[in-house]
Amino acid sequence: MAIREILEVPDSRLKTVSKPVEAFDDELKTLVADMFETMYDAPGIGLAAIQVGVPLRVLVIDLQPEDEDAEPELCHSHGGHEHYHQPTRKEPLVFINPEILDPSEEHSVYQEGCLSVPEIYAEVERPARIRARWQDIDGNTHEEDMDGLLATCLQHEMDHLEGILFIDHLSRLKRNMALKKLEKLRKAA
Ligand code: NI
Repeated sequence: MAIREILEVPDSRLKTVSKPVEAFDDELKTLVADMFETMYDAPGIGLAAIQVGVPLRVLVIDLQPEDEDAEPELCHSHGGHEHYHQPTRKEPLVFINPEILDPSEEHSVYQEGCLSVPEIYAEVERPARIRARWQDIDGNTHEEDMDGLLATCLQHEMDHLEGILFIDHLSRLKRNMALKKLEKLRKAA
């Protein structure tokens, strides 16, 4: 596995419309493993392949990044030998060729951020509930109803597949303010 470089605005590659995955092969498995490593390292809760420069319809999400400061837990399983485990709350989700079905008319608002737009956060309104269909790493199809942060995160990541960033949902004034702020932060760094 390897940590890959995350593209940031105004990199024009982020505007690419990503292509469907057709080959569920070792190359895809390596890409997904690298995307998780890159996302956890950043850290972030979602990453689209185009954010590491690969124009394929592949997303990774984990709303529960590992808490490295958590206390080790005593474990009584494994044949009765007591030992300690670092608790892991990782919940890695992979979405390949995702589609949204039946978005709700009701909307919800979340404060969003993006690894490609560092340090910028803004409220974005999206359908509160969706039905999603996607393929897993082996090419099997899944369908599930989602709401809350997962629904929002999946919609944010799916926007990346169309070359859309969360700041594109803001008014031009707010978007320009956000980009100016980012430029200022970069100069200061
Ligand atoms: Ni993003």
